[in-house]
Amino acid sequence: MPTDQIRLLVVEDVPQVAQYMRGLVSTSPRVKLLDILRDGRSVLEQAAQQRPDVVIVDALLQGRVAGLELAAQIRNAGLPAAIVVITVPQRPVAVAPERGVDAVLSMPFTGYELITLLQKTVEAQRSRDASAAAALLAVFAPKGGVGKTTLAFNLAVAIQQQRGARTVLVDGSLQFGDLRALLRVPADAPSILDLPIDRIQEADLADVLWRDPSGIDILLAPPRIEMADMVTPRDVEKVLSLVRRVYDVTVVDLPTNLSDLTLAFLDAADVILDVVTYDSTTIRNTVAVADTFRAIGYPPSKLQYVLNRSDSPGGLDPGVVERAIGRKPDHAVVSDGRLVVEANNQGVPFVLASPDAGISGDIRRMAEALVAERRPVPAGV
Ligand SMILES: Nc1ncnc2c1ncn2[C@@H]1O[C@H](COP(=O)(O)OP(=O)(O)OP(=O)(O)O)[C@@H](O)[C@H]1O
Ligand SMILES: [Mg+2]
Repeated sequence: MPTDQIRLLVVEDVPQVAQYMRGLVSTSPRVKLLDILRDGRSVLEQAAQQRPDVVIVDALLQGRVAGLELAAQIRNAGLPAAIVVITVPQRPVAVAPERGVDAVLSMPFTGYELITLLQKTVEAQRSRDASAAAALLAVFAPKGGVGKTTLAFNLAVAIQQQRGARTVLVDGSLQFGDLRALLRVPADAPSILDLPIDRIQEADLADVLWRDPSGIDILLAPPRIEMADMVTPRDVEKVLSLVRRVYDVTVVDLPTNLSDLTLAFLDAADVILDVVTYDSTTIRNTVAVADTFRAIGYPPSKLQYVLNRSDSPGGLDPGVVERAIGRKPDHAVVSDGRLVVEANNQGVPFVLASPDAGISGDIRRMAEALVAERRPVPAGV
């Protein structure tokens, strides 16, 4: 599986240890050893050229750049590689990703331990990258009324607030366009249909987008149900590719069906936020849709579950969702009927109207997890 091979760069100045590691990885088809460097001087240059998935650094590295200092330099250089630090039991090193220590391996170690750790570290790095690049988030559910529109709106506002990321909310529910009603948009406000699809440019977006008082921009669905038929999957592709060039984060509110249009949005998404509640039909449909997503070929990392109304099991055993989806939901949002209905009736996001409510905290946590590393907030801000 050459595409799955881990590209490894090693920085090791003790010849015996270097030789030992070469021996360990040479027998594994999973690892491609790019080079073993004797000191830290050329590491940044080599790492930039050879694009390793992992750099192993000996914490006891001597010379001009000491081991841990080098690890920090590699991290600060913004290279995509994960960094594994090897050390001896007498010199324990703590895992500290912000200082370039993603994992630590203490000598002596076996080939199995080394390869397993490399694999785990690379997987963790890849899923971090997936969320760091989570520029297009599609909020979907295989059952109506579970909170998609409410969550999409508040999530978009929270992302914009927190990260200062330019955020656009796209109404992908093209027939019913829930956002028009939620936000009390006048009937003649322009929609996705007003974009000149074949020669669409950034300036056109500015004319068509609805600027919500909450601070986010919104691309509305057509004003009438039958007009949805005028939008094609190709239009969706084109619009999304423009929107993601202009905005840091795009949140899409989707309908319940898996039509070609919905699939066009889902295909383009970096992360599908699948909303599930404690309701047996929803849970059953969620399992069925996960099968479909697998069959389509969406990687598992593309799908994240949001358990909405997480504190309202409605008589069901609380473990039922976890068992059905085979893992813990990635995000949980509590129920707050009064606040949600009131905010929705006024067309305002509850994350702004009641920032201290538990449900607002849940949305903020979800926003943080989804765009965590995309736009790091500078230290001290
Ligand atoms: N966490 C929550 N706590 C309390 N009420 C909620 C919560 N989330 C959603 N609701 C309520 O559930 C109802 C449906 O929400 P919403 O319209 O957002 O769902 P939807 O999935 O977009 O529905 P549709 O399938 O019709 O598009 C609304 O009345 C909303 O107020
Ligand atoms: Mg909706």
